[in-house]
Amino acid sequence: MTSEVETIRRAYDRQAPGYDQRWRSYLAGTLDAVLDGLDLRGDERVLDIACGTGELERFLFNRWPDLRVVGVDLSRGMLRQAAAKASMSRADWLVAGSAALPLPDCAFDWAICANSFHYFREPERALGEMRRVLRFNGTLILVDWCDDYLSCKLCSMWLRFSDPAFCRMYGMTALGRLVKQAGFQLERADRFRVGWIWGMMRLVCRLQPG
Ligand SMILES: C[S@@+](CC[C@H](N)C(=O)[O-])C[C@H]1O[C@@H](n2cnc3c(N)ncnc32)[C@H](O)[C@@H]1O
Repeated sequence: MTSEVETIRRAYDRQAPGYDQRWRSYLAGTLDAVLDGLDLRGDERVLDIACGTGELERFLFNRWPDLRVVGVDLSRGMLRQAAAKASMSRADWLVAGSAALPLPDCAFDWAICANSFHYFREPERALGEMRRVLRFNGTLILVDWCDDYLSCKLCSMWLRFSDPAFCRMYGMTALGRLVKQAGFQLERADRFRVGWIWGMMRLVCRLQPG
């Protein structure tokens, strides 16, 4: 296991018990953008990469109780919080990293990655894995901090010194380029704010054949 992975794992194992409370309004704002990007019947297979404490799943199961959901995260502590929530026995929780998903090819209709891409040391491999596990025409939703906002640029500079878990914040163009290189077609890309500090972006990407 690399030291970066261990750093992330330790940081989130420590934060896990207080995470939902501390980030309540931020999570409501950012996960709402994920939900708004989803177009579900209700019985689809959904993969949440770096799912954390499963707040997204809590919202998903409230609306669509018959979804089949797998949540993957590096931190056992975060997954423990997720599994303890009511109704979460309907999801499967796996300890794994985004660059090597222990999941079969073409197994999901939707892949979601919220508030986490800025930690990924191997973004191309992570996107390659998202592509591999999605079925043809499946959809990926990425929501993350956006370097196009001045507040986020400053935050990124600060995090580079202060947070060893942090890796890189992307702008919309750079992230759009990465997803296209990974074989996705960009269907929607928008920016939004949560509070005055968090400048966010949401990319809705469709898997292309080939
Ligand atoms: C800020 S939390 C976001 C959790 C959740 N998606 C949410 O929106 O609440 C970031 C999560 O990413 C996980 N993480 C970071 N890098 C990862 C990686 N390479 N693979 C899997 N999980 C990762 C951390 O353990 C942590 O739970």
